[in-house]
Amino acid sequence: MVKNHPNILYFETDFDYPLIVKGKGIYLYDEDGKRYIDGCAGSVSTSLGYGRSEMAEVMKKQAEEISFVHRHHVSSKIVNEATDVLKKNFPAMDKFFLVSGGTEATECATKLARLHFYHQGKPGKNKIIGRWMSYHGYTTDALAYGGNPGRRKEFAAILREDGHIMPPYCYRCWAGKSPENCAMECANELETAILTAGPDTVAAFICETVVGTTMGCVTPPKAYYKRIREICDKYDVLLVLDEVMCGSGRTGSMLAIEQYGVTPDIVALAKSMGGGYFPIGCVACTGKAAAPIEKAGGFPVGHTWAGNPIASAVVKKTLEIIEEEDLLENVRKQGSYLREKLEALKEKYPFIGDVRGMGLMQAIEIVKDKETKECYPRSERIAEKIFKACMENGLIIMTSVNMDRGVQGDAIMMGTSFDVTAEEMDELVAILEKSLLEVLS
Ligand SMILES: Cc1ncc(COP(=O)(O)O)c(C=O)c1O
Repeated sequence: MVKNHPNILYFETDFDYPLIVKGKGIYLYDEDGKRYIDGCAGSVSTSLGYGRSEMAEVMKKQAEEISFVHRHHVSSKIVNEATDVLKKNFPAMDKFFLVSGGTEATECATKLARLHFYHQGKPGKNKIIGRWMSYHGYTTDALAYGGNPGRRKEFAAILREDGHIMPPYCYRCWAGKSPENCAMECANELETAILTAGPDTVAAFICETVVGTTMGCVTPPKAYYKRIREICDKYDVLLVLDEVMCGSGRTGSMLAIEQYGVTPDIVALAKSMGGGYFPIGCVACTGKAAAPIEKAGGFPVGHTWAGNPIASAVVKKTLEIIEEEDLLENVRKQGSYLREKLEALKEKYPFIGDVRGMGLMQAIEIVKDKETKECYPRSERIAEKIFKACMENGLIIMTSVNMDRGVQGDAIMMGTSFDVTAEEMDELVAILEKSLLEVLS
């Protein structure tokens, strides 16, 4: 039975999308009563699990009190309260600017970096160097400094090219190194990119701290960000981290970068920060990054819904729940448990080449040959087949494809809401294993 609506522009036209009518915890239910485990929290977004009445109440109360203010004219008490909670949760950051999504957050973050130099009399210091296989959103600028070749290709003709460096993809090192003989070539490439562009022309370097769907949870080695920070400092280039997916607790700390002992200048946040209940994003920066902009009179960038009261109430409540229910501890606990279970599958089967990630952001990379790391030809659409098998079996996962220089590679990515239990994780992995065997044996 074809259920798709004739007037909706769908992501994929040859797929019948189940019509979800209810969600509770990590489970979704379609109109026929079929139950799915949401193994990837929507798009790694719904940190609190579905159907929480306290979230519904907070939105209702805020909508009744004041639903909208325009920041050009007035502010609201709730945006102040949300900012107090943000400061408590992200103490290394001093200034916060609430927006409506991840792309808006990265756009505002890079514009903030450009304005930082513009207001110091350096309008030419405006290039944003990106990293291949890091995704920052779908606007033209975000695609330009973004490094997802598949998403850039249709728009390549109109994208500004400020330069990209290779990703820290240790499983298939683009510099041809292995952990034993690595001299951090992938990080050092940033210095080459800045020097060749001209340090006076580069405002910022942006990347995803832990890479999400574009590469399937690629997690840089511990020394990577210290070296990146050093290079940025040497050339007065701002370090902008995209923690839209990996931030707000997803990796077991409020910022993934905390686990690297490095402080960025600017961070873009979204997804988990709103629990999965309202479109939300946030730019956070140090006082030093904001100072020239504030001195010049303020931050003019932003969209109509920036600092919205309902969004503010949702962020405040989400962060309070994360603290009250000690959900960061659960992310670490269940993330380790999922990791153990995925490592066990890797031991058991020849088709899992790598397991990687941090906290509740974990992925497996599928290979044809474990020894040689040979990929399946992309024409076989292995990741998509696994996605469909999982869906049939009542599990929703995310696929990552073409992480090897944009031409090959299949990975499956998981990351539930933060309140998942061990029993639910067992069920998730059992369905994943069944689905993998249906496709690959
Ligand atoms: C790392 C990262 N940055 C930016 C974005 C864009 O966020 P949004 O889709 O909310 O605009 C995403 C979305 O998946 C993301 O994962």
